[in-house]
Formats: sequence, C-alpha cells, structure tokens
Amino acid sequence: MRFANEVNGLVVKFSRLEVNETLGVDMLVMERLYPLDFRAHEAEIREIQFDVFADELRTLHAAGFAHHDLQRPSNLPGERFDNILLTAQSLRLIDVGISVLHRQVGEAFFNAYVQRELEELARFRAFFLGR
Ligand SMILES: Nc1ncnc2c1ncn2[C@@H]1O[C@H](COP(=O)(O)OP(=O)(O)OP(=O)(O)O)[C@@H](O)[C@H]1O
Ligand SMILES: [Mg+2]
Repeated sequence: MRFANEVNGLVVKFSRLEVNETLGVDMLVMERLYPLDFRAHEAEIREIQFDVFADELRTLHAAGFAHHDLQRPSNLPGERFDNILLTAQSLRLIDVGISVLHRQVGEAFFNAYVQRELEELARFRAFFLGR
C-alpha cells in the first residue's frame, strides 16, 4: 500500500498501524472513501474516469506494483469489482491484501500478474461503461 501510495493516488492512502488492546489485534488505519454507485456519473464522465484509472494502473505496473485483485474470482461470493470504488472524483483501488511487487516475485511472475490484470481491466471497462 505504501509503495503504491508513493507512485500515485490510485490506491487508498495508508495512515498508520495501530494495536487495539481491547480486541488484541493490529489494525491498519487508512483513508476513508465514500463510494458512489457505478452509474452515478454520465457515460461521458465515466469514460474519462476509466481512462485516468487505466493510466494510473499502468503507471503502477511500470513502477513494479500489481494489485492482483481487481476482479473477484467467479467461485467466490460478492460483487465482481468491489475492490474498485467510484468516488465523486475518480475510481480508486482498495484491498491490497494480495498485491505483488516486482522485486518480490521476480520478472516472470510479475509479468504474468500484469497480463492478467490487464485482461481484468478490459472486463472492468465493459462493466463500468456498459452500466
Ligand atoms: N478505505 C475504505 N473506505 C471505504 N470503504 C472501505 C475501505 N476499505 C474497505 N472498505 C469497504 O469494506 C469492504 C471490504 O474491504 P476489503 O475489500 O479491503 O476487505 P476484504 O477482507 O478483502 O473483503 P472482501 O473479501 O469482501 O474483498 C469493501 O468492499 C468496502 O465496501
Ligand atoms: Mg475486497
């Protein structure tokens, strides 16, 4: 999350880590987003928002970060693209739980993750603009 935050503003911003003594757990405190329905903006606005999103995602890839969880696998319950949030300004990414860094997984794996992510991006485009 911190790696991606240094590259651009696409991924939700990390604030701090906290220990919750009552619950006995570590907590990750982050920026709070206020998501809108994917149909909240006119199609023309959404096209621009999608293009910015795609540019920022490719910039993250070029810097060595792949989100790796754009689209929920079809065998898992839940909305397909619920890690992509539409805010009043732009599309943002949450849930970096399984994201990967180039320097950690190496060239071959990283390129495979990026390839798959670009396929998911194309499916998200059809979903987001087709609403
Ligand atoms: N920064 C945030 N601002 C607003 N809502 C958030 C934020 N982070 C998470 N959420 C909400 O909580 C939900 C679950 O968060 P997240 O995807 O990070 O957790 P998860 O454990 O991976 O859950 P899931 O399996 O549903 O993806 C999100 O779909 C979103 O509705
Ligand atoms: Mg999630």
